[in-house]
Amino acid sequence: MDRRLAITWLGHSTFLIRTPGGTRVMFDPWLARNPACPQAMKKPPKVDLILVSHGHRDHMDDLVAVARESGSPVVAMPELCDWLGRKGIANLSPMNKGGSQHVAGLDVTMTEALHSSGYVDNGQMVYMGEPAGFVVRLEDGVTLYFAGDTALFGDMRLIGEMHKPDIAFLPIGDRFTMGPVAAARACEFLGVRQVVPMHWGTFPILTGTPAELKRLVEPRGVQVLELKPGETAE
Ligand code: NI
Ligand code: MN
Repeated sequence: MDRRLAITWLGHSTFLIRTPGGTRVMFDPWLARNPACPQAMKKPPKVDLILVSHGHRDHMDDLVAVARESGSPVVAMPELCDWLGRKGIANLSPMNKGGSQHVAGLDVTMTEALHSSGYVDNGQMVYMGEPAGFVVRLEDGVTLYFAGDTALFGDMRLIGEMHKPDIAFLPIGDRFTMGPVAAARACEFLGVRQVVPMHWGTFPILTGTPAELKRLVEPRGVQVLELKPGETAE
């Protein structure tokens, strides 16, 4: 445990986390055609663990490339893993909602998300299982909640009670996910002190902003970790 948690935003919902134990975790890899991803970061990185929340293009367009480059386990819904297997990716750790597993030295629980999940492959819409979120418990006990794409739901309270997350990664762009008002409510349900806004600013139709989230949660003592694409917070 020689290092501190580092969170790098690659734009949209793509994050690279370095845990205190030095494990590199990538969430929802979307690089090459992600308009928010800095040019220098578009190349698939070598990571130790890949977590995928659902099958939409803006969350997994570079999944095969990153999995191939890394050879590290991919954690996702069984249907998504099955599709990956047919693409020649062998290191798969499928799971489903409510389940936990110890993978790459971390404890990962898959949680609910209210959204949809499909991927267009060769002109066909492929079912990728249900959308999900993740709770990740790091080596030092610090607990992250990555919501994926979701609407607000009441059982975020249950996630708060059971997992006591320290930092929540919440979508705030609106239109396809929660906006800032619902995300502020999510912070309350989860009981988090820190929130990393995601899924905003990539396209003009994603109208929610961190400023709006700050206005709602800062008076209640919740810190908004607003990152620029390519920026790292420690
Ligand atoms: Ni989505
Ligand atoms: Mn999305």
